Amino acid sequence: MSIKTIGIIMNGVTGRMGTNQHLVRSILAIREQGGVQLESGETLMPDPILCGRNEDKLRSLAEQYGVEKFTTDLEAVLADDYYQVFFDASGTPYRVAFLERAIAAGKHVYCEKPTAVDPAEAFRIAEVAEAAGVKNGTVQDKLWLPGIRAFLKLRDEGFFGRILSVRGEFGYWVFSGHDEDQPAQRPSWNYRQEDGGGIIIDMHCHWRYVIDNLFGEVTEVFTHAQTHLPERIGEDGEPYRCTADDSAYALFKTKEGVICQFNSSWDVRVRRDDLLTMQVDGTKGSAIVGLRKCWAQSLVETPRPVWNPDVDSPIDFYDGWEVVDPGTCDNAFKIQWELFLKHVACDGAFPWTLREGAKGVELAAKSWESHHAGSWVKV
Ligand SMILES: NC(=O)c1ccc[n+]([C@@H]2O[C@H](COP(=O)([O-])OP(=O)(O)OC[C@H]3O[C@@H](n4cnc5c(N)ncnc54)[C@H](O)[C@@H]3O)[C@@H](O)[C@H]2O)c1
Repeated sequence: MSIKTIGIIMNGVTGRMGTNQHLVRSILAIREQGGVQLESGETLMPDPILCGRNEDKLRSLAEQYGVEKFTTDLEAVLADDYYQVFFDASGTPYRVAFLERAIAAGKHVYCEKPTAVDPAEAFRIAEVAEAAGVKNGTVQDKLWLPGIRAFLKLRDEGFFGRILSVRGEFGYWVFSGHDEDQPAQRPSWNYRQEDGGGIIIDMHCHWRYVIDNLFGEVTEVFTHAQTHLPERIGEDGEPYRCTADDSAYALFKTKEGVICQFNSSWDVRVRRDDLLTMQVDGTKGSAIVGLRKCWAQSLVETPRPVWNPDVDSPIDFYDGWEVVDPGTCDNAFKIQWELFLKHVACDGAFPWTLREGAKGVELAAKSWESHHAGSWVKV
C-alpha cells in the first residue's frame, strides 16, 4: 500500500504541551505505529518540522527525539508547499497572529486551546479560516479521555435516565515556589493575565466543549473568580505579582436544564479520585467521571442513608460503585490528531473547529462578565 507523507509545521513545540502531548505522544507515536490508515487503503505519514524562536532549544529537542527538521524561519516554511498543516502550541496571546499568517499561506490549521484571549478575535480567526476554505481545528482533548468515553457509553445506553446535575471538581495544589524544595510545577505565565494566564480562560474553554458534548449546550453561566495567592516565584527565582485568577467557582445551565457546577482551582489539595472528577446524577443512576476511570451506581445499587451524625455511618459510601470499562483508549491528543489528519486527507468530518474553540473563549468572557456583575449571564 502506498504511503503519502504530510508535512506539518509544529510551532511553539518546545513548550510543555507541544513537546509531551503533541510531538512525542501524538505525531511521533503516529509515525512509530506506521502512520494513519485512510479509507482509500493509503497510509498518511506525518512529517514534522519543529518551529520556534530559539534554535538551540529546537536543535536539542530534535536531537532528543530523532526529529530531522527544525527551523526558526517561519516565513520560509510557510512559503513551502510541502507543508500542508500548521499547528500551534505557542502561548495563547500569540496564537491568532500565527494562525492568520498560516491561513494566508494556504495551510490547514490546527491549534491548542484557548484559540485567543478575546472572543471577538477567536470568532474572527474562525471566520478567516472558513473564508479561506482551509481545514481547521482546535484541541478538545478531554472528549477522548477513557473516563469520558466510559461516561458517554453509559449515557448513550440510557443508564442515567434524566440527567439532573453535574458536580465538577478540577484542580490541585500548584506550589507557589516560596517553600523550600517545592518549585512551581506550572509555567508562571499561567498566573499573569497580561501573558494569557488565568484559570477561567484556561479551564472554562474546556468546560464549554465538555458540557456541550456531554450534557447539552451551555445557555447560562454564574461565576466567581478569585486570586487566592497574590504572589508566586517565577522561573527566574524572583517573586512576581499574580494578576490572573487562580480559582473559579462556576455554575452553568444547559438547554436541557442540567445544572453543572464546576470548581476549578490551583489552590486545592486533592482528596478525590482524580484531578478532574465530575459527579453526574440522573434519575436512574449516577457516575463519577474521572480522567481515566468512570464509576457508576444504578438506582438498584443506591444505598438508603438515614441522617444520624451521632454514630459512624453504617454504610461505606464508596461501596456499590462499579468501574465502567471504556474499551481500548489511545492517548486523547493522538486520537484527535489522527482525526484531523484524516479530515485533511478528506476522510471524515472534524466538528472540533476553530469556531467551536471560539465558543470556549466566549464562555470564559461571559464568566468574567458574570463575576463583575455578580449575576447570571446568558451565553
Ligand atoms: N489542552 C490542554 O489541556 C492544555 C493544557 C495546558 C496548556 N494548554 C495550552 O497550550 C499552550 C501552551 O501551554 P504550555 O503549558 O505548553 O506552555 P509553555 O510555556 O510550556 O509553552 C509555550 C511554548 O510557546 C513558545 N512561545 C511563546 N511565545 C512564542 C512566540 N512568540 N513564538 C514562538 N513560540 C513561542 C515558548 O517558547 C514555549 O515553547 C497554551 O495556549 C495553553 O493554554 C492546553
